[in-house]
Amino acid sequence: MKRRSERGALPPGRQGEGRVARARDPPAGSRRLWSSWITLFKSLLLLLFITYVSVPVLVRLFPALLAKCVFLNIMAYPFVDFGKPELVLNHTVNFYLTTEPGVTVGIWHVLPDSRGREARGKDHSWHEEALADDDPVIIYLHGNGGNRATAHRVSMMKVMSGAGFHILTLDYRGYGDSSGYPSETGFTTDALYLYDWVKARSGNSTVLIWGHSLGSGVATNLARKLLEERGTQVDLIVLESPYTNIREAAANIPLTKIYRKFPGFEYLILDTMALGDMFFCNDENIKVLSSPLLILHSEDDYIVPVHMGRKLFEIALDSYENKDKVKLVAFPEELGLAHENICLHPALPTIVQDFLKSVK
Ligand SMILES: *[C@@H]1O[C@H](CO)[C@@H](O)[C@H](O)[C@H]1NC(C)=O
Ligand SMILES: *[C@@H]1O[C@H](CO)[C@@H](O)[C@H](O)[C@H]1NC(C)=O
Repeated sequence: MKRRSERGALPPGRQGEGRVARARDPPAGSRRLWSSWITLFKSLLLLLFITYVSVPVLVRLFPALLAKCVFLNIMAYPFVDFGKPELVLNHTVNFYLTTEPGVTVGIWHVLPDSRGREARGKDHSWHEEALADDDPVIIYLHGNGGNRATAHRVSMMKVMSGAGFHILTLDYRGYGDSSGYPSETGFTTDALYLYDWVKARSGNSTVLIWGHSLGSGVATNLARKLLEERGTQVDLIVLESPYTNIREAAANIPLTKIYRKFPGFEYLILDTMALGDMFFCNDENIKVLSSPLLILHSEDDYIVPVHMGRKLFEIALDSYENKDKVKLVAFPEELGLAHENICLHPALPTIVQDFLKSVK
């Protein structure tokens, strides 16, 4: 009854319009166009739904998906024969260490350039003995994605080898030709094993722990474990393009930009880091350390913004008793070194050597 009276209440003009419209149906072509717009609109809605809703919800339900995005070990490029490091690096040997039962990781040992000529034709035991030659040793803990043959890592090794350092770099479990599956605790186990292996051979040489990007968290996890379980302070820590912790890093990296305004961002994505057992707490770790700490960050780092390196530096300044043991070098934006190319700065070796001298 009510319905009818409502209809009846429609002004006669409107009813008339409706009829006229029907009488002038659009031609078939424009109808098709219209329906294809609707299809496009629906697809866009679906895409938005997938991007903004299903992805975060899936991530929350399956934290392992998020771990895959953080570790990126499936990005296995470049495909190289790890057994032939000479294709990319001179005076380098490849070997494997079993860091825990069932986990074997691939390692390269790059000799200082100065020993390159001597090293020709020498076997593995000669290279192991060379570690005690008093040249400083870098244990290089790389970032996510790729492997120990990735171009910017190779550049870094060339530069520091040229400056007289030994470099040992490993592919954590799940990367490169290493076996096993990636996990934060697994990375620490791998790095600790390599550290012990080096220390057993490096005599009185200085051993630096150098972590780049995601590897910065592995570096401070390792340093903290050595301190808390053995009372050992590592000789020097270099953090290149570091973050404060993985949760804050995820909130700042470009990949998550589109999600930041999404109401469930914190709950669905950031909180899931912890569910996936990913913490990488550089900020908490450095509060308990007192090893000399050198932070390197480029001001145009668009992946891990420089404010995170600065914050880490402030935290260390607050907590270190000896403030001279903490140094931040921020590379100006106009140099364009970004996230991966600090090693290309010609002063890098001098910066590291001078800091090493100043804290000895
Ligand atoms: C090895 O050293 C030689 C001589 O310095 C150089 O020409 C060559 O490019 C180096 N090889 C690699 C793979 O870097
Ligand atoms: C390390 O230094 C100590 C003291 O200077 C010395 O006695 C020892 O022989 C050195 N060890 C090695 C492996 O060079």
